[in-house]
Amino acid sequence: MNVGIIGYGNMGESFAKALRDKVQIVVYDIKEERRNKALEEGFGVANDLEFLLSSCDWLLLAVKPKDAPSLLESISSKMEGKLLISIVAGLSLSKIKSLCKSSRAVRVMPNINALVGMATMACVFAEGVEEEEKKKFKELFSHCGSLYELQEDTFDTFTALAGSGPAFVFKFVHALALAGVMEGFSYDTAKSIALDVVVGSCELLKRLGGNPEEWITKVASPGGTTIEGLKVLEEKAFVGTLMECVRKTSEKARKLV
Ligand SMILES: NC(=O)c1ccc[n+]([C@@H]2O[C@H](COP(=O)([O-])OP(=O)(O)OC[C@H]3O[C@@H](n4cnc5c(N)ncnc54)[C@H](OP(=O)(O)O)[C@@H]3O)[C@@H](O)[C@H]2O)c1
Repeated sequence: MNVGIIGYGNMGESFAKALRDKVQIVVYDIKEERRNKALEEGFGVANDLEFLLSSCDWLLLAVKPKDAPSLLESISSKMEGKLLISIVAGLSLSKIKSLCKSSRAVRVMPNINALVGMATMACVFAEGVEEEEKKKFKELFSHCGSLYELQEDTFDTFTALAGSGPAFVFKFVHALALAGVMEGFSYDTAKSIALDVVVGSCELLKRLGGNPEEWITKVASPGGTTIEGLKVLEEKAFVGTLMECVRKTSEKARKLV
């Protein structure tokens, strides 16, 4: 099977690399420089959309939201029999259907962790996608990270939690690193320690299970050091701030495209 990727930017490149051992990839990007990069990286490259469409069964749309509507209109008449996979933020299945007559579409919301093959993704299928194809899609995309099949009305919240989530995690790591600098570590050492703590704690939660709250009580012994820090987080409304941050992000996601 051939998968055509339209747009070889951050996301298109990540998906191309994660899927290359499983399917034949053909790339098209409007920029010659990006097409050359794809070629150097060993991918099949189409010099125009026409060729890409004629040589692929599935198409992954990975252009920015502002470029997606005109692109979908331009390929609409050539989508017969093809599966369209759109990762464009905010572009609903009904909008896809109105722009491009294909009834065989999957909307996917990935995140930047696709760059290391660990994307957290949501997907929702249009009514015209057969069960066999859904199965094939899920099998293939599980190679790019974790995949949740969700109702489309939860996509804006998912966009905030998982799509934007890495930025919030990076901010947390940066804040811990700065705290280390304030106490005398170099930024690089503090960042490395912060990163190990975040990765190790997440791995522990994943492998051993349980709720974060239970593990907090295991770390914070009565009258100990951790509870002093936790009190500050409570006083500064850490939890409420993060909840408000996700709510605002998801409100913005609702207004996209
Ligand atoms: N980055 C993330 O963390 C993230 C997370 C979730 C979802 N997404 C979604 O993923 C999509 C791609 O994001 P990205 O960060 O990978 O964007 P990007 O780096 O800007 O890549 C998009 C590429 O597509 C090219 N392009 C524009 N119009 C085109 C056309 N008509 N035909 C072919 N190629 C065209 C762009 O060229 P120009 O630069 O010349 O326009 C660019 O090289 C977006 O819709 C975004 O909403 C991204």
